[in-house]
Amino acid sequence: MPFAQIAGIGSYLPERRLTNAELEQMVDTSDEWITTRTGIKERRVAAEGESTSDLAAKAGLAAIADAGLAPADIGMVVLATSSPDLAMPSTACGAIAKMGVACPAFDVMAACTGFVYALQVATDAIAAGRARHVLVVGAEAMTRYIDFTDRATCVLFGDGAGAVVFSAADAPGVRCIRLGADGSGADLLTSGFGAANPPSAEACARGDGYLKMAGKEVYKFAVRVVPEITEQVVADCGMTLDDVRWLVPHQANERITQACAERLGVRDERVVSTIAGMGNTSAATIPLTLDGLYTAGNLAAGDEIVVVGFGAGLTWGAAVIRWTKEAC
Ligand code: ACO
Repeated sequence: MPFAQIAGIGSYLPERRLTNAELEQMVDTSDEWITTRTGIKERRVAAEGESTSDLAAKAGLAAIADAGLAPADIGMVVLATSSPDLAMPSTACGAIAKMGVACPAFDVMAACTGFVYALQVATDAIAAGRARHVLVVGAEAMTRYIDFTDRATCVLFGDGAGAVVFSAADAPGVRCIRLGADGSGADLLTSGFGAANPPSAEACARGDGYLKMAGKEVYKFAVRVVPEITEQVVADCGMTLDDVRWLVPHQANERITQACAERLGVRDERVVSTIAGMGNTSAATIPLTLDGLYTAGNLAAGDEIVVVGFGAGLTWGAAVIRWTKEAC
C-alpha cells in the first residue's frame, strides 16, 4: 500500500497589505488593541477581480514546479476553502482551469480545519491507488466575506493560498491524522449565503452574508481542543512532543497559539507563528506556514511536524507529517 509524502510545496500572498494603521481609519479600533488581543499587524487583500481560485492556481503551480512535476502529472486536486468563488461550481474546478490541470477536482469545506481534512482525503486516495500525485490546496479570499464596518471581525482575517503535492512513496510522510467535528457549535461562526440563508436584495442590504463569529466561545474551544488533539495524534504515532521539531497550529490569534503551547509545555522556538504578517487565512494558513518554514531553510529531511487546525463547524484536526524533502 503506497504512502503519501510531500513532494512539492508553494504559496501565494496577494501584494496588497492592509495595516492596522489603515484599519484605524476605517473602524473604531487601534493598533494597540489589535496587536495585544490578536498579534496581527497586517494582512493581505486579494486584488479587485482576483478570486479564491486565482490564488489557489498560483500556489498550486508553485507546488507542482517545486515537486519537479508538470500540471499533467497531477491525478487529483483537493481544495480546502471557506471563501469559495461561488456555491457552485467548486473553486477547485476554477483552479484547475487556470493551472492547466485535468483530473478529478473538488472542494473540501471544514473552515480553518479544511487543509487537515483535505490531507486525509489525499492520503487515502494515494493509499487506495487512485492517484500517484495529489495536489492539496488551501486557498482563501476571506476579505470578500468580511464586513469592513464590523471591528470585531474585520481586523482578523486575510487572503492567501498554500499548496502541497503529495506523492506515492514506500515510506510514510503523512504518519497519523485525527479529525473531529461537533455540529452543536455550528452557529458560533458562520459566513456566506446558501440554502439556509438565501440571498435577496433585503438580505444583502442587512449584511446577512458577512462572516459572524462568537469570538469568546471559539477562543475557549480552541484552547481546549488544540492541546488535546496534539497530544492524541503524537501518541498515535508512538512519539512524544520531544520528538516534534515544529508545531504548526492554525493561526487565528497569537494568544490562542501561546496558551496552547504553554498547556503542551512546548518551547516557543518550536511553535511557528505567522499571524503578525497575514492574519487568519483560514484553510490557507497551515500550507502557507509550512511553505514559510521551507523557504526560510528551516525544514530538513527527517523533521517531524505536527499541524493542527480548528475552526467553524466546529471542526478540528491534527496530523503528524515527516518532512522527506531536502532542505530548501
Ligand atoms: N478594536 C477595538 N475594540 C474591539 C475590537 C476592535 N477591533 N473588537 C472588539 N472590540 C471590543 C469589544 O466591543 C468589547 O468591548 P466592550 O467590552 O466595551 O463590550 C471589547 O473589545 C472586548 O471584546 P471581546 O470580544 O470580549 O474581545 P476578546 O478579548 O475576546 O478578543 C477576539 C476578541 C480577538 C475575536 C478573540 O475572542 C478571538 O480571537 N477569538 C477566537 C477567534 C477565532 O479563533 N476565530 C477563527 C476560528 S477559525 C475559522 O473557522 C475561520
